[in-house]
Amino acid sequence: MSRRFYIETVGCQMNVLDSELVAADLLRHGYEAADSPREADTILFNTCSVRQHAEDKVYSALGRLKHVKEHRPETVICVLGCMAQKDRQQILRRAPHVDLVIGPGQLSHLSALLDQVAVGGGPVVEVSLDRAATGRAPVLASFEPYNPGRTPAARRVPQQAMVRIMFGCDRFCSFCIVPNVRGPEQSRPADEIETEVRNLARQGCLEVTLLGQTVNSYEDRTTGRTLRLSDLLCRFNAIEGIERLKFVTNHPRYMTTELIEAVRDVPKASPYFHVPAQSGSNRILKRMNRGYPVEAYRDMLATIRKTVPGAAVTSDFIVGFPGETEEDYQQTVALVRDGRFKNSFIFKYSPRPGTMAAKRFEDDVPYAVKQRRNNELLAIQSAISLEDNRPLVGRRVEILVEGASKVARKHSPSGKVVQLVGRTTCDRIVVFDGPAKLTGRILPVEIEKVEAFTLFGHRVVGRQ
Ligand code: SAH
Ligand code: SF4
Ligand code: F3S
Repeated sequence: MSRRFYIETVGCQMNVLDSELVAADLLRHGYEAADSPREADTILFNTCSVRQHAEDKVYSALGRLKHVKEHRPETVICVLGCMAQKDRQQILRRAPHVDLVIGPGQLSHLSALLDQVAVGGGPVVEVSLDRAATGRAPVLASFEPYNPGRTPAARRVPQQAMVRIMFGCDRFCSFCIVPNVRGPEQSRPADEIETEVRNLARQGCLEVTLLGQTVNSYEDRTTGRTLRLSDLLCRFNAIEGIERLKFVTNHPRYMTTELIEAVRDVPKASPYFHVPAQSGSNRILKRMNRGYPVEAYRDMLATIRKTVPGAAVTSDFIVGFPGETEEDYQQTVALVRDGRFKNSFIFKYSPRPGTMAAKRFEDDVPYAVKQRRNNELLAIQSAISLEDNRPLVGRRVEILVEGASKVARKHSPSGKVVQLVGRTTCDRIVVFDGPAKLTGRILPVEIEKVEAFTLFGHRVVGRQ
């Protein structure tokens, strides 16, 4: 009988993509996908280390699996992703029932190692070299590429796919664990990416999101000419079948006018920029090692607004970074107010062992203060988002249908007409009623009602 796997995924889109690749890999190796951990004999956790909270959730989920392992000892439990790379052996100490700990740079060994631990050859810890302990070349080599091939069956919406254009990060923002756990920055050759995008188009994929931790620093020097993200957008625009091109996450330092103009000029490029600011205070930006003053961020925003009118811009902010005074925080408030972001993701600072900020600065902003700043910023952002969504009422938008909404999945699993969700090119979420078979299609919806982060509408049928 074939083995059945279930993957639980937390963290960013890198992890969502890795989980898809792992699923494709395992399906190819004869596994079947299970709908829940209960029906699986191989349970995988794809983990995130970006904040303490993300790690705590995984450790408690692993704790709950202890009795599963007692009742069904043949169950294989695997921890992959960024926490695997960061905590390594420590995971086995805290959760001795785990069979395999495998870092993001070692996934090409996953299926072989699962075979090994399934027959009692575990536990195994397989991770890349510690970035802080060794030179760049050996570390780079130890973060191995993982390209098991793409299969629509491994994607939630087969018509939507992410494509990695670069690995790792070299920016070392002082708060961030990502460069340690994802390794050195490395761009994939453009030809290799293009082959993957063409293959996805043949599989019926309509929307491709190019992924990188600093996606706009992409640089391919393997051919005579240096190729950048704007060149990729132009090249992939020519691929028949692909309708939308998105890219995340941008770093403000590399947001060139050339790239912004490419978004304006390349028909399939979505007018959507996720470009985290992190703070509105120069003193804090410096401590964060972000590499730009707030004035440069504001200038960049102005260029986006002028060049691509109507573009959606989203940002991330950290509140309660060490030493953040009320005045620093007020500068962040001012940036959120002036920026008119489509959305801002707001995080409370969480010290990460091994980062510069954790070594140098005391986590001195009280939790209650972080919480208040977080809530206030969210409220300010919500009010702006709602205000900016209002003019959309009565307007028609094109959406890519992503399937039944969470509510519909819970309450009307067999109903013909269900509540569906889709996304505009600007990454706005649209809810409307329709048959589930519309999933994966791009179609027009007229907006009737708006909330801060969701639009509601109805399908426009026939010629109008
Ligand atoms: N590469 C992306 C994002 C990486 S992590 C970028 O450069 O913007 C996603 C977000 O998590 C970050 O933008 C940051 O806002 C937040 N984050 C990262 N480390 C954090 C920490 N230690 N505490 C709180 N938030 C953090
Ligand atoms: Fe982390 Fe900064 Fe790299 Fe983003 S750019 S992944 S925040 S170190
Ligand atoms: Fe988390 Fe790793 Fe992404 S730490 S945010 S899953 S790169």
